[in-house]
This record gives sequence, structure tokens and C-alpha cells, in this order.
Amino acid sequence: MPEQLEIAQLGNPVLRKRTEGIPVPLRSPHLHLMDNMLFTLKNVNGVGLAAPQVYVSDKLLIIAPAPNDRYPDAPNMDSIIMINPHLKWLSPETEDGWEGCLSIPGLRGIVQRALSVEVSYTDTSGKSNNIRLSGFPARVFQHEYDHLQGMLFIDRVKSTEYLATEKEYIRIVQS
Ligand code: NI
Repeated sequence: MPEQLEIAQLGNPVLRKRTEGIPVPLRSPHLHLMDNMLFTLKNVNGVGLAAPQVYVSDKLLIIAPAPNDRYPDAPNMDSIIMINPHLKWLSPETEDGWEGCLSIPGLRGIVQRALSVEVSYTDTSGKSNNIRLSGFPARVFQHEYDHLQGMLFIDRVKSTEYLATEKEYIRIVQS
């Protein structure tokens, strides 16, 4: 049975470390980690999760854009597990949008991100893949990819005026 993992929060040094590459083919500790991360992500209404957020400093992330209470307008997409992802290309077109982070509960911020990205990664079967993402899934990817470099969305806001608490965020998006 997969288990619910504890989420590291802002202030823990694991969120500020650069992650290590994962040896492929995957061995059982990483396979268990992926199962547990998927399970955890579904239970906490997240749209993405990176290994440092569960105290593991490895290059592994999941993007799972789907509508939920925290992101009602998210598109419904199958979750993608990316091992050793590499950001190959960012579109010059950007978009401002709200982000939150399971590791920074209660806070939201407006972050400028590339509208589209091209990414290479290894999948769970050990195969190399290339994918192009646009819009919300591209935003989720860029947010999770930042986690692998020890960066958080609060480092990306243009100024602290672009931050809001969850309560005020809901007020803003509903107005
Ligand atoms: Ni995050």
C-alpha cells in the first residue's frame, strides 16, 4: 500500500538544495517513492509535487493538472512522472498567473512564466521522452522544475506586492 508522505515546508533546507540525478533503470526505493508521491499528491489536492517537498533531494517530479478545490479551473490531464527532467526550451511568450505551493501553505503569488516549454525526461519504464507543454501544465512544470534547483515561487514574484494570503486570493479571483 502506498503511504502518505509528510510535506517539507518553507524553512527546511531540503527545499533550497540542488537535487541529484537518479540512476536509470530505477530501483525499488525510487519506485516506492514515486508511488508514495502520487498517492500523497492526490490526497492533498495538489497539481504537482517535486521530490524535495517530501524530503528527498533527487531529480523527480510529478505534474498532475486536474481540477480540485485548490485549482478549480485546472485542465484535466493524466499525471506525468518525470525522472531527471531537463528544460530544453522556453517560449519567449510569457503569462502572469497565480501560484501556490504545498510547501508554503496559505500563500499565493503572481508569477510570470513562459507560456510553453519543451522538456525531456525519463519515464517510469526508463524510456526517454520529449514533451511540449503549454498554458497551465507548462506553469506547473516550471514551478516543479524550480523545486529541483532549490527555488520557490516566492523567489519569482516581481515584488512582494504580488503575494496574497489564501483568504485574500480567493476574494481577488472571485471578484
Ligand atoms: Ni511547490
